[in-house]
Amino acid sequence: MDYQALLEQIAQDVSQLIGSGRTAEYIPALAKVDPRRFGMAVADIDGNVYGVGDWQRPFSTQSITKVFALALALASGGDSLWKHVGREPSGNPFNSLVQLEYENGIPRNPFINAGALVVTDRLQSLTGDASSELLDFLRQESGNPDLAFDPQVAESESTHGDRNAALAHFMASYGNITNPVPTLLDHYFWQCAIEMSCADLALAARFLARHGLRADGSRLLTRSEAKQINAVMLTCGTYDAAGEFAHRVGLPGKSGVGGGIVAVVPGRCTLCVWSPGLDRRGNSVAGVAALDRFTTLTGLSVF
Ligand code: DON
Repeated sequence: MDYQALLEQIAQDVSQLIGSGRTAEYIPALAKVDPRRFGMAVADIDGNVYGVGDWQRPFSTQSITKVFALALALASGGDSLWKHVGREPSGNPFNSLVQLEYENGIPRNPFINAGALVVTDRLQSLTGDASSELLDFLRQESGNPDLAFDPQVAESESTHGDRNAALAHFMASYGNITNPVPTLLDHYFWQCAIEMSCADLALAARFLARHGLRADGSRLLTRSEAKQINAVMLTCGTYDAAGEFAHRVGLPGKSGVGGGIVAVVPGRCTLCVWSPGLDRRGNSVAGVAALDRFTTLTGLSVF
């Protein structure tokens, strides 16, 4: 497959959409990003990487890191995680509070904010420093030792973090959060504030295309756990638009309000696209269109 030619074709096909949508206004540091950016990268399972546009420019990964935190929590803590968080689509916005009360403080899935807070809480208990563990892991898998947190974004999220604080305190009242809420929130905001490029993310996510094998060939997850994460990405990875994403793209995917989306073709490659203009559910407008073009042009979907 000539990935380079394909990416150039896709960039051209979606050029009219680049700049549509809105940047995430509820996190002021993200609202300032130029919505006309667009980058896309593909990494094959052997680690060759191809890209177009702004594919080497770091951006705020935001909720994409929820996938990596989940993988690390499963790898170090095992299946008991699923007693604390479900794996069903929520059908509600990613920062919604409504289901939590009648479901007794157990979030629907690990990719809505409530579920990610539970995962980060467990990772914190398992490792003692959840956000640094995550950053180290991402540096190793991407092969980029310069990956870093953006302190301005972390600060901006913390200052405007009342809703995440409410989610965390509410779950703590049900005994589903173990660490002090302020500690948990710090790690969660740092986690969301990791900056990576499309190339970094496509490379770092390869263990999901390699059935659980890390870049160095060691095993992070069992084959079955890797399958489970891909399945939750497919059903819950793009918030309350996961059905639409499956319909258009047909791949496990995880988006973030920084405008990035990571997608996986199991056994074959990983993709990352970035364009900061979001639709009303928080997914990149040009990003979803580019992934739609990818699976349409190549036939590489899981269906
Ligand atoms: O907590 C927040 O709202 C952001 N740091 C992340 C949001 C995001 O990307 C979508 N979340 N699931």
